[in-house]
Amino acid sequence: MECTSACSRVSGDEQLKAEILRLKEEKNAVILAHYYVDGALQDIADYVGDSLALAQKAAECCQDARIVVMCGVHFMAETVKVLCPDKKVLCPDLAAGCSLADSCPADEFEAFVKAHPDHTVITYVNTSVAVKALSDVLVTSGNARKIVESFPADAKLIFGPDRNLGAYINSTMGRDMVLWDGACHVHERFSAEKIAELRKAHPGAPVLVHPECKRPVVLMADKVGSTAVLLDYALKSDAKEFIVATESGILHKMKLGAPDKTFIPVPPSDSTCGCNECSYMKLNTLEKLRDCLKNESPEVTVDPELAAKALKPIDRMLELSR
Ligand code: 13P
Ligand code: SF4
Repeated sequence: MECTSACSRVSGDEQLKAEILRLKEEKNAVILAHYYVDGALQDIADYVGDSLALAQKAAECCQDARIVVMCGVHFMAETVKVLCPDKKVLCPDLAAGCSLADSCPADEFEAFVKAHPDHTVITYVNTSVAVKALSDVLVTSGNARKIVESFPADAKLIFGPDRNLGAYINSTMGRDMVLWDGACHVHERFSAEKIAELRKAHPGAPVLVHPECKRPVVLMADKVGSTAVLLDYALKSDAKEFIVATESGILHKMKLGAPDKTFIPVPPSDSTCGCNECSYMKLNTLEKLRDCLKNESPEVTVDPELAAKALKPIDRMLELSR
């Protein structure tokens, strides 16, 4: 009988997964994946998490492995390399960057820091290792409030690069941090208007929002939090329908964890349907994961001097989030 193309793709995926699992064993590799990558990659990973959990896993659980593969974006792989300098860190596609990290070039950030002497520099993990090296402490969306809280109310603080997360912390915690003017192109595409339309169609559905969204969107939220926080909320809530304003990859784990619930992705403001996807995260594919394990390439390397400087604020973050 002739195979349909969908059927041959499924068997092709199964073959790829078998190859990945074989190579992983053979090469003593650990696969980490962010919630925003394709479901097939999340399913095959040893660990799936938000940025904070992935950094924690790299620090604690990858120690026996020879290779760590980061199915996510480049700054996440760099963070793993800084935390595990003796491991070979692979990234299925080196072009998997991040518009938020790109919105904060290290030389410009250095000038900004110098223009604000006596300020403590709090930096979001979505940054290059060079920006991390200029920082006093890092945060993720999962621990930002806790870390800011560890500083006295009148402390002089710089927060970069995400202006939306920074503004959210300033407004909810009564802080006056000086903000770098950066943003993520995915989360900036959500609008309060689209959420209002969905709310009308799905009354009672809690609105889940990532803090990288703009203020009018955050103000519509029933829950604001990192991907892990939103997932946890969706799984534990008694509600049956949820409106989700973050990258649509998170819906994979939401649906797996609560198959009886309905998750409605908020489309970007300039589209009537469709999901809001991070084109960088979606560069990760099963084929590229297989090839990178097979060839042990592309490898992510970090200048050791820069890595030593970046390790301090990363370690401080991990310590403060315990
Ligand atoms: P999380 O901290 O929720 O993992 O978010 C990472 C990210 O890239 C958001 O755009
Ligand atoms: Fe960067 Fe935004 Fe993609 Fe997250 S969703 S990796 S912040 S571009």
